[in-house]
Amino acid sequence: MATLKTSVLGIDFENPFLLASAPPSASIESIEKAFELGWGGAVLKTITPDNLEMYETSPRYSAIKEKNKVIGFQNIELLSHQTLKYWGDGIKYLKKKYPQKVIIASIMAPIDENGWKNLVKELNNTPIDAYELNFSCPHGMPEKHIGMAIGTSVEISSTITSWVKDVAEKPVFTKLTPNVTDITQISKAVEKAGADGIAAINTVQGFMGINLDTLEPNLCIDGYTTYGGCSGEIIKPIGLRCVAQIRQNSSLPILGTGGISNWQDAAQYIAVGSDAVQIATEVMVNGYGIIKNLNAGLLNYLEEKGMKSISDLKNKAIDKITSHKALNKNVCLKPDIDENKCILCGKCSKICEESEYHALSNIDKKIKLDKEKCQGCSLCSIICPQAAISMRNK
Ligand SMILES: Cc1cc2nc3c(=O)[nH]c(=O)nc-3n(C[C@H](O)[C@H](O)[C@H](O)COP(=O)(O)O)c2cc1C
Repeated sequence: MATLKTSVLGIDFENPFLLASAPPSASIESIEKAFELGWGGAVLKTITPDNLEMYETSPRYSAIKEKNKVIGFQNIELLSHQTLKYWGDGIKYLKKKYPQKVIIASIMAPIDENGWKNLVKELNNTPIDAYELNFSCPHGMPEKHIGMAIGTSVEISSTITSWVKDVAEKPVFTKLTPNVTDITQISKAVEKAGADGIAAINTVQGFMGINLDTLEPNLCIDGYTTYGGCSGEIIKPIGLRCVAQIRQNSSLPILGTGGISNWQDAAQYIAVGSDAVQIATEVMVNGYGIIKNLNAGLLNYLEEKGMKSISDLKNKAIDKITSHKALNKNVCLKPDIDENKCILCGKCSKICEESEYHALSNIDKKIKLDKEKCQGCSLCSIICPQAAISMRNK
């Protein structure tokens, strides 16, 4: 029998699914509901010193939808508006009622040694399991020289990590931003400064578009917008890449985050090196109840694969990611067209002609392949509306 129970830095997880720091983890009563429904834990909405001024905009969210399903999300929300006392009391209450659930305090303070240390000392008095240093919020906070302004600097992120490590009585994860040229420069720096683990990624900086009737931005606040944080399905490839790159350079535990919307995404994050995963957007658009399928799907997958636990899956795909130079250039797959599925729409031959190779043609009600011209790029198999084309070694 497989189990979803796992252990990271000595912290026991009932399952590897955590609420990421975001609105679903912004109040004690909502976290309580998530715990009741089966979440393994929660990273609290980022806690700051009580005197840090923050003013929210309305609206502060925008989305890209496909057939009414949110596939991409953008927010310009800031951090928790609750006081330190609220969180201190709340964490004690939650831990007493749910001792088996993992609670991680996400924190951020202005760049001042005492500011960070005082925040940690206050939270040391609570039964949290770990800290997560938010070095990665891409909007609002960088204008105050914090958030992503920390996580894009090797010097500042290492300095703050060592300040926190001086006083923290629990393991310290640093949450990194993908909005850098090379995330491993930052992960290596915080590891050297003493970080016990890495959380990645926070949101990807962007904005959702322009309304062509009004020429105003889609997330429009009195006529203006600002660059925000994109999340949800559209950022999964970026998150996976960042987690894999961190794993290829470090053996620290990783909390993988970014565009996870089902158990398959979570399994992929684990296979490239995550020890546990965090989810924000999918919970915001579909509710805490998604945990049922996440838990059941991942457990079933482990069992089908004959794996006993998360650690059997962890890192299993990481060695498959290499340099372009190292990839085998002697293989050239060719399209194999299933004539029972092909409706002769001609899309494959048209696209092949317009996208370089001219290898497919639609002759006498049959798609013909010129093997010499075909370079095996696979575009035809991707754009076929009938999924009639598979790429094979032939
Ligand atoms: C509305 C919203 C608010 C967020 N607030 C925080 C925050 O306070 N602290 C933080 O570290 N990350 C915050 N995040 C980032 C998420 O924790 C997560 O890293 C990111 O959304 C990617 O995961 P996802 O694709 O599952 O949403 C927020 C995300 C969203 C969508």
